[in-house]
Amino acid sequence: APQFPRYTRAEVAQHRTPKERVWVTYGTEVFDVTDFVELHPGGPDKILLAAGGALEPFWALYAVHGQPHVLELLRDYKVGELSPEDAAPPPGDTEDPFAGDPPRHPALRVNSLKPFNAEPPPELLTQSFLTPNELFFTRNHLPVPAVEPGSYRLRVEGPGGRALSLSLSELRQRFPKHEVTATLQCAGNRRSEMSRVRPVKGLPWDIGAISTARWGGARLRDVLLAAGVGDHTGDGEWHVCFEGLDTDASGTPYGASIPLKRALSAEAEVLLAYEMNGRELPRDHGFPVRVVVPGVVGARSVKWLRSVAQKDYKGFCPSVDWDSVDFGAAPAIQELPVQSAITEPRPGAAVPAGELTVKGYAWSGGGREVIRVSGGRRWGGEMRYNVQPDTVGPIWNLRGVLSNAWHRVPVTVTR
Ligand code: HEM
Ligand code: MTE
Repeated sequence: APQFPRYTRAEVAQHRTPKERVWVTYGTEVFDVTDFVELHPGGPDKILLAAGGALEPFWALYAVHGQPHVLELLRDYKVGELSPEDAAPPPGDTEDPFAGDPPRHPALRVNSLKPFNAEPPPELLTQSFLTPNELFFTRNHLPVPAVEPGSYRLRVEGPGGRALSLSLSELRQRFPKHEVTATLQCAGNRRSEMSRVRPVKGLPWDIGAISTARWGGARLRDVLLAAGVGDHTGDGEWHVCFEGLDTDASGTPYGASIPLKRALSAEAEVLLAYEMNGRELPRDHGFPVRVVVPGVVGARSVKWLRSVAQKDYKGFCPSVDWDSVDFGAAPAIQELPVQSAITEPRPGAAVPAGELTVKGYAWSGGGREVIRVSGGRRWGGEMRYNVQPDTVGPIWNLRGVLSNAWHRVPVTVTR
């Protein structure tokens, strides 16, 4: 067998461009793939992402590389071995905080892989009124927490330092199961249309950051009453704060709040859900328990719920959410404005002359019913005489939220 020179990881890291030569490692071997960069079926930009480092974390995401012919191809480019001190801890996903994320449906359009943010293709969204769990849009800020259902406890803080600690089976057995069909929409839905006017911060959602499910669980109202929380909406601005089990590097959990009045309202039907479309809540959507707040921005529906507490308005909840963060001065987003979008035909489609069926969705924003959807000059979902703005310009904002202008789909008419 040929003898190969030994290199340290630091030496490999100096080869990141075609000019310096492009080196990568796989296992304990070093490869110079400069001449393959332009030939790469996945494109030169993709392969250059791994330049100077290990292939494993990238190939873990692109399973096409798990075929024998890919490894055979790589062998032709071998130039060395890693030096023993660097070869010892094999590179891999062991330290990747996202390594424990669940598998996902390949049809989802991914806006960010880590954390996972993805939306269903528009055509699938209007295929059925309830979005199948596997295709329901996913908005994660952090890795998906791994929760052992047997040891899960939900902490519900009551007045005077009292607190309730509920196991999953207590939550299921002590409180009647209530079911609600509710749509979740992210405040950043259709943000990509805003960035076309001027760049905005945030994930480039197309029209799919919205989905509908039938949720089953305990009413938040029942649980709060059991914890001794009474209706003291008279004295000040009380909120109910939710915290998730997903924490950022500083240990701050994802959190959000809703007014106590809504939390206690029987009509608002706020749920501590453990079922989604008749099945156990999937990991991406908050297993084992999430909040579902019908009719308001999706950010309030905290997943992987670990605690519920009351705060007066000055006690801000921790939050890592750019879409809904409490900036102090501005009131946090709760209800969203009237929204609609066209799912078929798709932009750029060639359509026959004559009559055309157009599909789409409409949403009232406040948990109210859509009265009608009008076309022509007043295109859009319409409820209680609220209409959508005709252009993005006047509603443009730096955070790229509440993007609800008329959705325009340019098509080519064929004869
Ligand atoms: C596809 C080799 C690095 C992303 C492929 C295929 C080969 C290949 C042979 C075609 C596989 C098939 O369809 O049978 C390599 C080699 C690499 C490398 C030798 C490093 C030396 C990367 C990296 C990424 C990447 C770092 C991503 C960051 C992709 C993608 C495809 C692909 C997305 C699928 C393209 C498509 O079919 O649309 N690669 N790859 N590759 N590779 Fe790589
Ligand atoms: N809850 C936790 N714990 N962590 C999160 O990242 N994202 C929020 C909300 N609840 C989030 C969360 C946001 S911004 C939205 S829009 C909804 O969850 C999305 O819910 P889904 O991923 O089930 O569609």
